[in-house]
Amino acid sequence: MYEALSGLSKEIAMRPLKIAPSILASDFSKLGEEIRAIVEAGADVIHVDVMDGHFVPNITIGPDVIKAIRGATDRPFDVHLMISPADPYLEAFAKAGSDVITVHAEAGPHLHRSLQAIRALGKKAGVSLNPGTPENVLDYVMDDLDLILAMTVNPGFGGQKFIASGLEKLRRIKAMIDGREIELEVDGGVTADNAGIIAQAGANWLVAGSAVFKGGPAHYKANIEAIRRAALLGRGEVV
Ligand code: DX5
Ligand code: ZN
Repeated sequence: MYEALSGLSKEIAMRPLKIAPSILASDFSKLGEEIRAIVEAGADVIHVDVMDGHFVPNITIGPDVIKAIRGATDRPFDVHLMISPADPYLEAFAKAGSDVITVHAEAGPHLHRSLQAIRALGKKAGVSLNPGTPENVLDYVMDDLDLILAMTVNPGFGGQKFIASGLEKLRRIKAMIDGREIELEVDGGVTADNAGIIAQAGANWLVAGSAVFKGGPAHYKANIEAIRRAALLGRGEVV
């Protein structure tokens, strides 16, 4: 299928599908082991949720923990900063071993500056939008980012229900991307049941926490495969 697409213009060619388990749903008492288990089970990217108890009503992990788990895998670390302000901490998250650093558009007044700072640190720059934030906040930063993360729950906790208006937002953002080399990521309430329509709407990086970690390590492979298969079906890449 990828060969078949290679002759098409980049506007309609799809970017590769990646499944990104969120370690927020893992057993924090053995994070390294959990990361090795999801990689073994087929995870493409490791999604790390950083929360500060200020921008969102929960507190999770910081750069030192990321540094400690970085050695568990070579897979990219996709670090989702739900913190405000973010700028003073970007260097620490870069040094800790992040590959993609995503800031929230709502987290500060200088989005363009944050993106420039992330790229200056040699990292891929992402912008995340809360469910209630319109996509036009991206209008003047489209050439300054590498990833757009559309939240489909209100950030702060795993295990919430997918907010369906996110599908229309994904379609609109996909149209804005217009062939640029930008990943479109979705985060919140993603399961094997909705991965198909989500992928169809244009998301190519799918974050999933509870849907990957449910049932414990013996189920990780089947959980990831179910999400991947549903997404590939939605993309028309398997029948
Ligand atoms: C929510 C986090 C998500 C969360 C997803 O604030 O950004 O990454 O872990 O968890 P699920 O897939 O369970 O909704
Ligand atoms: Zn996240």
